[in-house]
Amino acid sequence: MMTLKGKMQINNIIEAKQSSQIHSAEEIKFFIENLNTFSQEEITQWLKAVKANGLTDKETSTLTLAMADSGEVIDWGNLEPTLDKHSTGGIGDKITLLFVPLIAACGINIPKLSGRSLGITGGTIDKLESIPGFRTNLSIDEIKEQVSKIGLAISGASINLAPADKKLYAIRDVTGTVDSIPLIASSIMSKKLACGASNIILDVKCGSGAFMKSLHDAKLLALEMVKIGKSNNKKVRAVISNMSEPLGYKIGNLLEIEEVLEVLSGKEVSDLVEITLCLAKEAITMIGGSESEEKLKDILLGGKALSKFKLMVKVQGGNLSTGFPKAKHIEVLKSNQDGYIQNIDALVLGEAVFELGAGRKTVLENIDHAVGIVLFKKHGDKVSKNEALLEIYSKSKEDADKAKDKILSGIVFGQNQPTKLKLIHEVIG
Ligand code: URA
Repeated sequence: MMTLKGKMQINNIIEAKQSSQIHSAEEIKFFIENLNTFSQEEITQWLKAVKANGLTDKETSTLTLAMADSGEVIDWGNLEPTLDKHSTGGIGDKITLLFVPLIAACGINIPKLSGRSLGITGGTIDKLESIPGFRTNLSIDEIKEQVSKIGLAISGASINLAPADKKLYAIRDVTGTVDSIPLIASSIMSKKLACGASNIILDVKCGSGAFMKSLHDAKLLALEMVKIGKSNNKKVRAVISNMSEPLGYKIGNLLEIEEVLEVLSGKEVSDLVEITLCLAKEAITMIGGSESEEKLKDILLGGKALSKFKLMVKVQGGNLSTGFPKAKHIEVLKSNQDGYIQNIDALVLGEAVFELGAGRKTVLENIDHAVGIVLFKKHGDKVSKNEALLEIYSKSKEDADKAKDKILSGIVFGQNQPTKLKLIHEVIG
């Protein structure tokens, strides 16, 4: 129940932020600890004041820790030093599924808690659930036991991680207050702090298919998250990577698992390999190790990471040998012109795959694991009129037909070969 004291304080807190005052740590902790006693209107007023007037680094760090502490905080105990990875999300972004077995094959413990897709952004848990039998609901004790034996686990979170963030995010989502760097940074980092690893590598995506569209905003977010982590005694580094075009050739849950297996079996898909190796190298040096890029590449493509991935799938009940469910309809989309591909818009392709049924609008919706897009051509490739550009995996011919114009609208052709896409913009931390 709301106390008179609580009521008075929330009003003071809202007014303080509305007039750009700096909150004390006590005020922020009070706000988060009593969140469930405030009305949605009160919380919205505070969020709007933060969006308008910002938070100092100290306020943001205190807010993040208070949100992390609103639920369980995992202690990995003798598994330390552990590494965690976070991607701000993108199209065809299957890097976690390459990075985790690579890191485990380097001898670093990686207990990875991942999420499901929301909107056009894919989720690692949905991708893994394309594998028949694969369990994504491990308890924390099961994850600990598995990581102590084989060095890696990827699971959904079975515990209530940062419930204050869940509540605030749900309100931000419907009140136009998602778009605020301190609120985004504290939201992401509260879950990372609750996940408990002592080392965190962040892949901050930037471009049309990313949350952060501009390099400027991606950099601000990366800087803020690194500062939050460091002020909470974590080692944190952020890589800002390009998400203006989809990653790899395959987009869609099951298709992305197929591509992960192809890369781990030696197929050098250049954008996936470059970003995975950069993240791994930065993570390993942050922890104090050193591994040459050549050695990492050999582990990634030469079979060691594949063995770790297959072991993880087996231990988590998955079966890679039964064959995957196929999409009901597969249709080739041919080019309507000659030229070099200048750009494949990640946002447009992400929306197309979402409309085919690969994503969900709310956390409760079901998804179709088999639908998606397989690109035959990428940035810089030469294409002739009527040459196959890509394949659409859909539930029906009608769905494929509906997707065609949209997909073509996202592909830009030109007469000259464009310069190579810059994949890594910057490393921070
Ligand atoms: N992802 C999060 O977890 N929180 C945000 O605020 C935005 C993206």
